[in-house]
Amino acid sequence: MSVFISGTGLFTPKEYITNEELVESFNSYVESYNNENQESISTGEMEALVPSSSEFIKKASGIERRYVQDKAGILDISRMRPKLKERKNDELSILAEMAVAASKQALDQANTNASEIDAVICGCSNLQRAYPAIAIEVQQELGIEGYAYDMNVACSSATFSIQNAFNDIKAGVADKILVVNPEICSGHLNFRDRDAHFIFGDACTAVILERQQDSSFSFEILGTQLQTKFSNNIRNNFGFLNSPEDSDPNSSDKLFIQKGRSVFKEVVPIVQMHISDHLNELNLEISEIKRLWLHQANLSMNLLIAKKLLGRDPDENEMPIILNDYANTSSAGSIIAFHQYKDDFKSDEKGVISSFGAGYSVGSVIVRKV
Ligand SMILES: CC(C)(COP(=O)(O)OP(=O)(O)OC[C@H]1O[C@@H](n2cnc3c(N)ncnc32)[C@H](O)[C@@H]1OP(=O)(O)O)[C@@H](O)C(=O)NCCC(=O)NCCS
Repeated sequence: MSVFISGTGLFTPKEYITNEELVESFNSYVESYNNENQESISTGEMEALVPSSSEFIKKASGIERRYVQDKAGILDISRMRPKLKERKNDELSILAEMAVAASKQALDQANTNASEIDAVICGCSNLQRAYPAIAIEVQQELGIEGYAYDMNVACSSATFSIQNAFNDIKAGVADKILVVNPEICSGHLNFRDRDAHFIFGDACTAVILERQQDSSFSFEILGTQLQTKFSNNIRNNFGFLNSPEDSDPNSSDKLFIQKGRSVFKEVVPIVQMHISDHLNELNLEISEIKRLWLHQANLSMNLLIAKKLLGRDPDENEMPIILNDYANTSSAGSIIAFHQYKDDFKSDEKGVISSFGAGYSVGSVIVRKV
């Protein structure tokens, strides 16, 4: 029995911040901090902060801008975090709202409607609350019967949730499943951290998986493969035990922190091996793969992974990049690339969706155009 991806959707926030705007704000903050602490800095008691640069950001990451849910709050140097309005319990949460918008597009593309969906899985890096689940809100808002739940495997949340949906459909538990990946990464980013302030953006993707291949869009899932390997190199220690543990809510580890260079070095070979193994398992050669829709964190990282897999430099058709526009949108990244770069696929052409990130976690979904 086969399982098909029959539709995808994307929600993109209205506002975006260019590298130049972000750096201008960061550097004003640095200037004001250094002026305020001039005396302590001159005696060596405190260290002066160092300015950021848009040239560095573009060169080191490939990122040129990022979409965000609130631009003004991030660029305001007295705040440096998005300003989002707290919603009442009877209002739709912001993550569910993004997910519903992306889901409507995916339902349209799949030529189906909510009454035919049996389950909703929300996979994302940062859930705004413990419960009720964002997925259950989406289910309620769209009028879906069945079951819904949230899960978090950081940047790999989309591929891991696609595997869950794939397995449930194969097992006969559901016929059609909606997977959503709402990411407000700007909410967990430390905009005062020079090493990371440029990394993330916000977006939400949706994917419909089903047993039938009704839609003209359909891609058959040939297989999914997941892997995790513990690493402390990407962490976020924010959680419900922060308060009982009396830990400092403002310490930098309560937001995203990473050792970017180590992540780069360690993750590239893991992903290359992971995709090679998965292709081998399905008796596929890399030459049979038309496109790699990779996780969107760093341009050089993706170029290196593709080069190691192909044995040569990839062309932009083989490995589309969206991180220049979106930055790293965590779990949504590889799905945005798939959503935007799959319409030219002809029957029987194959591609690999692959995510990688904190955990470490790696996931791959190999698809064939019907
Ligand atoms: C984060 C990342 C872009 C940083 O690039 P990098 O080339 O590794 O940069 P480094 O942190 O080693 O810093 C290199 C130099 O740039 C400087 N630098 C760092 N941030 C800077 C900034 N914002 N502006 C200007 N210079 C900066 C550093 O001080 C360092 O200077 P030095 O060589 O004089 O010591 C890159 O490591 C990366 O993307 N890694 C993968 C991360 C990833 O995939 N994470 C998954 C997250 S889900």
